[in-house]
Amino acid sequence: MQQSRASRSPSKSPKTAAASPPKIKPEATTSSEAPPVDSGIGSSSEYDQDNSGNHLLEAQDDTSEASTDEGYAESDASSFLSSILSEVRRGVEIEGRLYPTYGKHAYGMPMDEKEMDRNDLQHHKYSLLLRDRLFVAPVPDAQLTSSNARILDLGTGTGIWAIDMADAYPSAELLGVDIAATQPPFVPPNCTFEIDDVEEDWPYRPAHFDFIHARDLMTAVRDWPRLLAQAYTHLKPGGWIQLASTIPGALTDDDSIPPNSGYVECGRLYFEIAEKMGAPLDAPRAWSSQMRGTGFQNVQDEVYKLPMGPWPRSKRLRTVGKLEQIMILEGGFEAYMLRGYTQVLGGRKEDLQVVMALARREIRDPGVHTYVQFHVTYGQKPLV
Ligand SMILES: C[S@@+](CC[C@H](N)C(=O)[O-])C[C@H]1O[C@@H](n2cnc3c(N)ncnc32)[C@H](O)[C@@H]1O
Repeated sequence: MQQSRASRSPSKSPKTAAASPPKIKPEATTSSEAPPVDSGIGSSSEYDQDNSGNHLLEAQDDTSEASTDEGYAESDASSFLSSILSEVRRGVEIEGRLYPTYGKHAYGMPMDEKEMDRNDLQHHKYSLLLRDRLFVAPVPDAQLTSSNARILDLGTGTGIWAIDMADAYPSAELLGVDIAATQPPFVPPNCTFEIDDVEEDWPYRPAHFDFIHARDLMTAVRDWPRLLAQAYTHLKPGGWIQLASTIPGALTDDDSIPPNSGYVECGRLYFEIAEKMGAPLDAPRAWSSQMRGTGFQNVQDEVYKLPMGPWPRSKRLRTVGKLEQIMILEGGFEAYMLRGYTQVLGGRKEDLQVVMALARREIRDPGVHTYVQFHVTYGQKPLV
């Protein structure tokens, strides 16, 4: 199910679709050159340890690990518009990382190659956490396999979820939108990407989509009720929305977090940054009531325990934990916090590095059994 990383590079050859605001459609090339990559994760009864809701997540007894060119396509864009487009594609450098410039609010996370690798790793981890599912909302198969099925992925990132969905539902049209042109040029024929800010007015027809999906839009969305209202308008009657995000506060069921924990401090700093940006990290806890308030029905929350490190008893969750650990050790904290710590809190990169180093040491410690929550909320637009 996973999209090959090999075909990915920042989107090339944006085309302009409108002069104001500058919507960019990265030129997609249909290809069979991007074969699915086997995750290498089979099924096992060990995989079945429940990590949803309030169940305790058990640690294993021992600490052993489980195993076109670059030019623009022809366009009627003015040189002014072209320069905006090239700035959007290029991004802005802050403390050695590249950040998106498009969108009405500053976004907290980078858009460079390192971040794209992190996004793809996250996709793999989340799919496994959800037991090899791309979504959990009970969208009937008939709805997604119908000839006019349309699916929208908000803040699509590398587009890896949209591409996997396009492969899984070849008769559906997939559209991924993002403020950053980080989608690959080789995509399935039923998948397209556009550059757009999901906090602006959506340009789609009302009652257009069967399913709207958004994952990990931390520090990306300020106004969830407005986003939900737009989703409601643009979903067909009977259509579904699913929002999902990690809430990055460290939790434990066995009191194994050490005193003065660097990991807990990183979480605290990240919450403070996001709060100051106007995009609180606990926003997912309000999604279900906001969905109901918008008019959605059949609204459900599902909360998954996402372990940090390969400590759970379940083989599946050990792999999830290992992926989470790799993600953080390979620069996850920096991706989450560098811009916010230096620009929003006014801190020094060197000070952040000290806290992050302390946190990384804890994360490697097999005696520390922490997890965060992965919060999924879905709902359905009524049929009438
Ligand atoms: C952490 S990534 C998650 C990517 C993808 N949803 C996934 O789960 O693989 C968040 C993405 O949201 C995008 N983003 C941030 N603010 C946005 C906005 N206002 N409108 C559209 N995309 C946005 C970022 O550029 C980034 O690609």
